[in-house]
Amino acid sequence: MIGLILVFLAIIILFFALAFSGSSSDVLSSNTKPVGNLGVDELLSCYLNPDNFQEALSQVTVTWEKKDLNGLVYLYESGAPNLKDQAAEFKGRTQLFSEAVTTGNGSLLLRSVRRSDEGEYTCTISSSSVGGKVTIHLRTAAFSAATFTMSNSTLVAEASRWFPKPNVTWTNQTGNELNGSTLFTEGSDGIFSVVSTLQAVNVGDAYNCRIENNLVTADAEAIVTGGGVLGRTFFTFSVASSLLASVYLNIVTCVVCIYCMT
Ligand SMILES: *[C@@H]1O[C@H](CO)[C@@H](O)[C@H](O)[C@H]1NC(C)=O
Ligand SMILES: *[C@@H]1O[C@H](CO)[C@@H](O)[C@H](O)[C@H]1NC(C)=O
Ligand SMILES: *[C@@H]1O[C@H](CO)[C@@H](O)[C@H](O)[C@H]1NC(C)=O
Ligand SMILES: *[C@@H]1O[C@H](CO)[C@@H](O)[C@H](O)[C@H]1NC(C)=O
Ligand SMILES: *[C@@H]1O[C@H](CO)[C@@H](O)[C@H](O)[C@H]1NC(C)=O
Repeated sequence: MIGLILVFLAIIILFFALAFSGSSSDVLSSNTKPVGNLGVDELLSCYLNPDNFQEALSQVTVTWEKKDLNGLVYLYESGAPNLKDQAAEFKGRTQLFSEAVTTGNGSLLLRSVRRSDEGEYTCTISSSSVGGKVTIHLRTAAFSAATFTMSNSTLVAEASRWFPKPNVTWTNQTGNELNGSTLFTEGSDGIFSVVSTLQAVNVGDAYNCRIENNLVTADAEAIVTGGGVLGRTFFTFSVASSLLASVYLNIVTCVVCIYCMT
C-alpha cells in the first residue's frame, strides 16, 4: 500500500517537474528548445511575462549564463552591457537589444552558431519589481531548403547544407512512397550536400521530398508544371527531450518559393 502511494507521489512530482521544468512564470521564452543552424545567427528568446507588470520597468538586469562555461555569456546592467566577465568564445558574437531590455525583453542574438554553442543556457532578468529565470536548451544542426530542377521526366532536389546526415524520402500526392535515389557529399566541414532524383514524374503532379535527421525535418513540396517546377520547403524542429522524443514543435519557420524554368 505504502509502495503504491510512493509510486503515485513519484508520478505526480514527475508531472509537475515536466510541466514547469526550468522556468519560473515571471520570465518566459518563445522557444526553450531551439535548433541553431550552424553558421547562421540565432535569437535566444527570453522576456519578462508582460502580464505580471503594468508600470514601467527600472533597474533591469539581464544575465545570460551557460552550464559548465567559464565566465558569462552576457551581462546587461545599469542601462549598458557589462562584458568584462564574458567568456572568450562569446566575445564579439552576442548582442542584446537595449530598446527591448527597457520593456523586459532580454533576448540574446548569437551570431554564426557553432557546434560548441550547444548546451543549457539560463537567462535571468531582474528589475525593481519583477524577475525570474528561464532555461533554454540549444542544439545545433545544419539545414537548408531544397531547390528543384526537372529535365527529361526526372525531378532533382538539391539541398546544400545538412548535418547530421539526413535521410530522404519521396512521396506522391496520396502519400505513397516513391523510389528516389540520393547522393550525399560530405564537405570538409562535415556538412553534407544532398542531391536526390526521382524518375518518371508526371507534369501536373505534386511530389514531396522529405529530408530528415533527428533534429530537423524539411518537407520540400514540388509541383511539376509545363514550364518548370514550383517548390517550397517547410521546416519542423524536434523538441526532443528524453521523455518527449516523438513530439515535434510545429513551427513553420521558413517558406521558400522557387520557380525553375527548364
Ligand atoms: C524581443 O526582442 C527581439 C529583438 O528585438 C525581438 O526579435 C523579439 O520578437 C522580442 N520578443 C518579444 C516577446 O517581444
Ligand atoms: C530521357 O529518358 C529516357 C528514359 O529514361 C531515356 O531513354 C532518354 O535517353 C533520356 N533522354 C535524354 C536526353 O537524357
Ligand atoms: C501514388 O503512388 C501509388 C503507388 O505507386 C499509386 O497507386 C497512386 O495512384 C499514386 N498517386 C497519385 C496521385 O499519383
Ligand atoms: C527501386 O529501385 C531499386 C534500384 O534502383 C530497384 O531494385 C527496386 O526494384 C525499385 N523498387 C520499386 C518499388 O520500384
Ligand atoms: C529518417 O531519420 C529519422 C530521424 O533520424 C528517423 O526517425 C526515420 O525513421 C528515418 N527514416 C528512414 C526511412 O530511415
